[in-house]
Amino acid sequence: MDMQDLERLIQGRRSIRQWKKQEVPAELLKKAVELGTWAPNGGNYQGWRFIVVKRKEIIEKMADAVQNVSDKIASWPEAVKWQEDVNRYRKNASFFRNAPVCIGVFSSGYQSPMDKVLVARESFDREAKEILGFRRSAPTAIQSAAAAVTTMLLVFHQMGLGAVWLVSPIQAKKEIEAILNVPSKMELICLIAVGYPDEFPSKNRKLVDQVIEFIH
Ligand SMILES: Cc1cc2nc3c(=O)[nH]c(=O)nc-3n(C[C@H](O)[C@H](O)[C@H](O)COP(=O)(O)O)c2cc1C
Repeated sequence: MDMQDLERLIQGRRSIRQWKKQEVPAELLKKAVELGTWAPNGGNYQGWRFIVVKRKEIIEKMADAVQNVSDKIASWPEAVKWQEDVNRYRKNASFFRNAPVCIGVFSSGYQSPMDKVLVARESFDREAKEILGFRRSAPTAIQSAAAAVTTMLLVFHQMGLGAVWLVSPIQAKKEIEAILNVPSKMELICLIAVGYPDEFPSKNRKLVDQVIEFIH
């Protein structure tokens, strides 16, 4: 693959939210997860797990759980202040129920040796507590899972599949973890909904000059 092919792959990928009914072969899903695990990850700890759900009833159950929590949040009096946005969000909360496949991405967390030292000192050392706060503001486990998800989305795109990265279902974290019966040390990071695309949306990006700064 030359640079142009790589650019085309990266720029051509879009989040897909409408899918054909066509089944996605398990081998493709397994290959995408396999390649996802080649992503950089903190300490090469690889504390991630991927639960690939093809069974419609289970996807429906997760979508119902997410919808219920969204409905609940939207019904709280504080929602009135942002009514229009909240309603739009609520209406779209469970569109992934139509996806032929839904992948749960989980992580068991990661503690570097530095975290261990900081945790041992945080109760009596303000500086250690502050540094631990910095580390917790950018969790390695979540960044690692994100690297895997990014890789998987590109692989899906190359396979002719369309996927979307979903963090909003985290609202129903407890319910989804129960539905998928995950061990208690595994934490839901996100879902990925996948299938053969039935839409071809376009998106723009800011110009690189708006987001880059060199320090020479
Ligand atoms: C961390 C993260 C969380 C996201 N969560 C959601 C989500 O909950 N629901 C959704 O429809 N899209 C979600 N997306 C997809 C973004 O909306 C999408 O990537 C963005 O609009 C850019 O569009 P593109 O992926 O087609 O380039 C998420 C993307 C990322 C990276």
